[in-house]
Order: sequence, then C-alpha cells, then structure tokens
Amino acid sequence: MISNNTALDITENSNVLPFEEGEAFEAFLNYFWEKYGFNFTYYKRASLMRRVGQRMKLVAISSYKDYIEYLKGHPEESTALLEFVPVNHTCFFRDAETWDYIATDVIPQIIANKKSDELIKVWSAGCASGEETYTLAILLIEALGVEQFNRQVRIYGTDIDAEAIYLARQGRYSQNQMVGVPPAFLERYFEKINQSYIFCKEFRHPIVFAQSSLLDNAPVSKVDLLVCRNTLIYFNIRGQNRVLYRFHFGLKDNGILVLGNKERPNSGIDNVFFSGVSKKHRIYNKLSTTYSPQELIEAFQQRKPRNL
Ligand SMILES: C[S@@+](CC[C@H](N)C(=O)[O-])C[C@H]1O[C@@H](n2cnc3c(N)ncnc32)[C@H](O)[C@@H]1O
Repeated sequence: MISNNTALDITENSNVLPFEEGEAFEAFLNYFWEKYGFNFTYYKRASLMRRVGQRMKLVAISSYKDYIEYLKGHPEESTALLEFVPVNHTCFFRDAETWDYIATDVIPQIIANKKSDELIKVWSAGCASGEETYTLAILLIEALGVEQFNRQVRIYGTDIDAEAIYLARQGRYSQNQMVGVPPAFLERYFEKINQSYIFCKEFRHPIVFAQSSLLDNAPVSKVDLLVCRNTLIYFNIRGQNRVLYRFHFGLKDNGILVLGNKERPNSGIDNVFFSGVSKKHRIYNKLSTTYSPQELIEAFQQRKPRNL
C-alpha cells in the first residue's frame, strides 16, 4: 500500500535549486552509483548536497561535472567521499530513557517468548562505530547472564561505512566516548588500557559486524529485535519506505523495531506493516501484512541508473 499522503512524518527537505544544479547533482549521484555501486539517490538532497559540497571544497572543486572528472583521476577520493557523507555521530545508551524501556519491557518480553535453546537474533542497523551494538549486548547479558547470552544470542551490527565498521570491530573507545555508560557497566564490560576502554573479548562471541547498505543489500533475516536509530532520518520518503519494507521482511512475526526519537514509519506503513508498542520511544512490532506487487518493487527492485 503506497501512500500518496503528503502529511509525512519524517519530512523531506524541500531543496529548491536552480534546475541545472539539481540536474548536475543527480547526474553526479548516478555516476557514483554506476561506478562505485553506492546508491545515494534515496538520501535527502539538502544534507547530502551539503556533505558532498564540503568534500568538494576540500579538494578545491566547484562543479559536480568537474568533481566527476576528479574522481576519475583520483580513485582514493571515492573512499574519502563515502566515509565523509554519512553522519556517524553516535554514543552508548543514546537517549537513556529509550534504553531503560528496552531493558525493562522489550528484552524481558522477547526472552519470555523464547525457549532457552531458541536463538534470539538482534540487528543493530546503521550501527556506526558500534556503541549501539555493544549497548544492546550489555543489556542482553544483564538479562540472560554471560553463558546464556553466548549460547542464545546473535547480534549483527551493520553500517554502510567501512571505516565505522572497522572501528566497531576494534571496540576501542576514548574516555569521552564512554560518557553515557553507567559506572557499573564500565567496570564490568570494558577493559581500560592506557587511555582507552575496550569492550571485553569474552562478551564478543555472539557479535558480528559487517559493512552493508540498508538500501541495497539483503536484510538480516528472522530478526527478533531490530534497532535502527537516527539513520532513516537521512533518507528521503522513498528511501525510508524501501528500508522499512526490508525491515518488515527481515523481522519475525511480532518482531520488534526500534527507531530514533525523531523517526517513525510514514503513513501507509504505520499501522499497516508495524504497530506501536511504545510510540513515545518509537518502538513498533511487525504486523503480518502481505505486500502488494508495487510494495515489493519499492522494497527490492534495483533500479538501473539512467545513462549519463
Ligand atoms: C547518525 S548515525 C546513527 C548511529 C546509531 N544508530 C545511533 O543512533 O547512535 C547514522 C549511521 O547510518 C549509517 N548509514 C547511512 N546510510 C546507510 C545505509 N544506506 N546503509 C547502512 N547504514 C547507513 C551511517 O554510516 C551512520 O553510521
């Protein structure tokens, strides 16, 4: 059910540009997609243009056409741009009230619905440098104990940004990055080496990090708890819907979806594919809804970039 409703919840930035500039930017995005396989066409234009513009400034280029030429001659620039465009800001226990709710209501409910030998699959989607993923691990260990956590849980942390995934795998954080971590958890789950805090190896066995795009790569399947916070907000409405259909596909029936505080499913998806568990904390569960052919196309079709 694709909605034509314009009263959308995560508003798209209306970015009024001179026609030529808009055209040139779309040509640039399509070039980037075709050449490097990264599809930014589903991102909100205003913030995307700002980030690409900042990168262009750094290499002293002022037109998208020249930037394409620069990319052709400087292969390392594509990696630099890919690392620069996504906003990676994150922290442990970001929005503490939401994590309290997850700890006291969501995780106990998931555990109660499982037999002790049944797998609990968790997906931290858009995990940046891993703080959110390790936050989930800590709360699951607190609920299950370490042994049962190792036996029963698998946590997948994914992000489009290879550098962020590298950092997530390192699990090494500065003192400043530990701000949201309650002291008892700091003591129990991190080893302090020099000025760094390292998430203890003994708790890492069920955690896997992988570079993956929510828009283009296959979703993790049979997920019980999917946390994707502060990521949808960077996508335009079509991008958000595409990812939400994919999340619906990846979740188990009644599986739980946690979004960021400023995010919610758009009308047409809310109450059709997901229903609110706690709208205050942007927590939803999957409804068993079947897709229309149009929705399947929106979710999974890989559109070919138009010819340049
Ligand atoms: C602002 S951070 C949010 C991190 C964390 N979820 C949180 O709430 O603190 C947004 C993350 O989404 C990632 N991201 C952006 N586009 C993505 C895509 N297409 N697929 C996967 N991750 C993406 C970015 O690389 C970035 O790490």
